[in-house]
Parts: sequence; C-alpha cells; structure tokens
Amino acid sequence: MIHALLKDGTRAQHARAEASLPVMDPALTRADYARVLHALHGFHAPLERQLAAVPWDRLGLDWDARRKTPLLARDLRALGGAPADVAVIPACDRLPDASTLARALGCAYVLEGATLGGQLVRRHLARTLGLGPDTGAAYYHAYGDDVGPMWRTFLAGLAVAVEREGCPPDELLAGARDTFDALAEWLDRTLAVPA
Ligand code: HEM
Repeated sequence: MIHALLKDGTRAQHARAEASLPVMDPALTRADYARVLHALHGFHAPLERQLAAVPWDRLGLDWDARRKTPLLARDLRALGGAPADVAVIPACDRLPDASTLARALGCAYVLEGATLGGQLVRRHLARTLGLGPDTGAAYYHAYGDDVGPMWRTFLAGLAVAVEREGCPPDELLAGARDTFDALAEWLDRTLAVPA
C-alpha cells in the first residue's frame, strides 16, 4: 500500500526535517517564528507553482484548496510584514525534482502530511505566542477541523495515481524523500543566517 511505503520509507527524513524546524522550541519568539514562516514561504511558493501542473482533477483532488502559500503570506502580513515584503521573499533555489507525476505526488505528500504535525504546532503557538488562525498561525491551522478528512482524501488520490495512472511507488518515495531533504537543507541554510 502506497501510504505505508511512504510513511515507513520517510521516517528518517521526517525526523531530520522536524529537527530543522524550531517551531516547537519553548523559547520561540515572534521574530524566530516570522523567520521560519519566511523560510517556509520561500520553499512552498516555487514548489506549489510546479505542482499546479499535476492533473489533480483526474486524481479527484482540488489543488487550489490545498495551497499553503496564501496562508503563509497571510501569516507574515498578520505578524507585521508589509505585502511587498512577502513578494520579495527569496525562493528556494534547490527544489526537489517534481518533473514526473510520481515525483510531484511524492513532493505533495510531504507538504500535505505537514498538516498532521501542524496540529501539535498550532497548540504550541497558541500557548507560547498567543497566535490563532487570524493573528499569524493560519498555515498551522490549514484545513481547520478537517485535517483528518483532507488527509484521507489525499491518500485516496495517491492510490488512484498508483493504480490507474501507473505511477511507480518507488518514484513517489524518491520524490518524498528528496522533498524532506530539500526542505531540511533549505531551513538549515536560511535559518542559520543571523537576523
Ligand atoms: C515541529 C515539527 C513537526 C512535528 C512536531 C511533526 C509531527 C508529526 C506527527 C505527530 C505526525 C503523525 C500524525 C498522525 O499520524 O496523526 C506527523 C506526520 C507527518 N508529518 Fe510531521 N511534524 C513536524 C514537521 C513536519 C514537516 C516540516 C513536514 C514536511 C514538510 C512533515 C511532514 C509529515 C508527513 C508527510 C506526515 C505523514 C506521515 C504519514 O504518512 O502518516 N512534518 N508529523
């Protein structure tokens, strides 16, 4: 089953990406958090643009409803960044290869799965920084109470891709692994630069 393959096959990559994202830090400040959002925006914006080319409707999925870039931009504005700042955020220059349907779906698996862990992060942001969906934590509230159903619909789309579109599972897995690694590398690189 494609989901088990992806979940088991990316455990180490998930751990590395999680370690590169300091959002659960008890001492997280608004400034630290804004830097994380900038970095996430720089990764999502160019990758989501590429993923728009996937024939989502054939998989029974609505990509526009899943894009996280607008939520990240909204959070940055809520935290005080002018819209112009959002427009000039540097884009990741070492994106994962999303050039085949299978690889692109492996990338999307990573971006979508982040909504699961996001539920822990949203509680942490509320507790430590007092942030909610309208005050800077819209990305971490993606899908609101529908995280579970949205995830299951996405996994059903992946199964269609494998069974009816002929996507090779190992290529999906390679796309997912590369995406986790590219994100971790981008976070390490951008967050290491002094503010
Ligand atoms: C502080 C950071 C993070 C925490 C605490 C976290 C935590 C979690 C947890 C608890 C789950 C399991 C949820 C469940 O099974 O119900 C999960 C799943 C997942 N997370 Fe994260 N995560 C974090 C960061 C990320 C990042 C940065 C990504 C990628 C952009 C990511 C991608 C995924 C994926 C793809 C899954 C789904 C695994 C599956 O197939 O079931 N996570 N995360």
